[in-house]
Amino acid sequence: MNAEELPRAFYAAFGTAPRLFRAPGRVNLIGEHTDYNMGLALAGAIDRACMVAIAPAPHTSIEVIACNKNAHAMIDWRGPVDRGWPLFVAGAARVLHGEEINVGGAQMMIRSDTPEGAGVSSSAALSVATVLALSTLAGAPLQKLALARAAQKVEREHVGVPCGLMDQWASACGEAGQLLAMDFLTQQSEPVVVPANLALLIIDSGVRHANDDGAYAAVARACQDAAAALGVEHLRNAADFDRLEAPLRDKALYVRDENARVTAMAAALKSNDARTAGAILSASHQDLKRRFGVVVDATDRLAMLARSEPGVFGARQMGAGFGGSVVALCAAGYASDSLSRILDRYCADERARANSFVARLGPGAGEVAT
Ligand code: GLA
Repeated sequence: MNAEELPRAFYAAFGTAPRLFRAPGRVNLIGEHTDYNMGLALAGAIDRACMVAIAPAPHTSIEVIACNKNAHAMIDWRGPVDRGWPLFVAGAARVLHGEEINVGGAQMMIRSDTPEGAGVSSSAALSVATVLALSTLAGAPLQKLALARAAQKVEREHVGVPCGLMDQWASACGEAGQLLAMDFLTQQSEPVVVPANLALLIIDSGVRHANDDGAYAAVARACQDAAAALGVEHLRNAADFDRLEAPLRDKALYVRDENARVTAMAAALKSNDARTAGAILSASHQDLKRRFGVVVDATDRLAMLARSEPGVFGARQMGAGFGGSVVALCAAGYASDSLSRILDRYCADERARANSFVARLGPGAGEVAT
């Protein structure tokens, strides 16, 4: 989508020129289910994004056209709101209102090219873009990390998904060509460059997951139970794992080892050691499957097909799990050929193909000049 299309459509619908904001989806190379355990992850923004065009309106509601849904709604965020995408808009207004930002009436048009349910955080792209647009329109733009935290609050407190901060952090703070090594306990990050000879493939399994269907909340709760049983606030600080019963011990050990894999991956990328980086990815996949229990057959098969490609160093299921995408680390020169061969062997349908791509690490959220 180019930067002129949406403002033009906005003008045609509302008769006024908007400001334009974008927030990208994310790739998470490693560090899965570590964020809400105050651990580590290595994630970045991709070049697929949610765009929000916005202009002030002389009423107190937010009138929204959601292009992907072919839907129109007048959202009075002070009252009850329909579930689904309107809750993101209402939630953004409510969170900002809670921070004493004066959210006025607005007209908004939303369009996204981050695939939904494919594990690249289309929902974080939506929440970050909406908070960014509404806060800037109110004359109170937020600092990047504050933007990420406000967007996370939208999802946790208003949409009802007990997510960590990774997706919103990557979307708000990403930098072109870089991943961010994130520490969720200190909320400090440092950039990690992906060497130019390596590419990240995002391959959609076509199996849909929704983070609000209860499965994500259930694993997050199991981690909390494990931490509580060990007498610590977060699994990041846990030890004495033998005190846990098997299912909780497996989850806790997974989190401990996944945090260690993030550190090892950052070191492998810094020394351009693709083989080690690939082996770490594949180990993460096995652990997500065996001990954490969030891998489904489709992504398991897809990761296996990816790993058997000559140019691919390693692959794993990415995101919350229960479907979605696989991320693979590939030699850059092989990237597009490998991707199409994997999709052929997987017999991917048209939509899964369209949602699979060689990820380009792009900048985080911001206003777009029109
Ligand atoms: C989803 C959540 C994130 C994170 C991942 C798993 O994407 O939104 O906060 O927990 O799952 O790593």
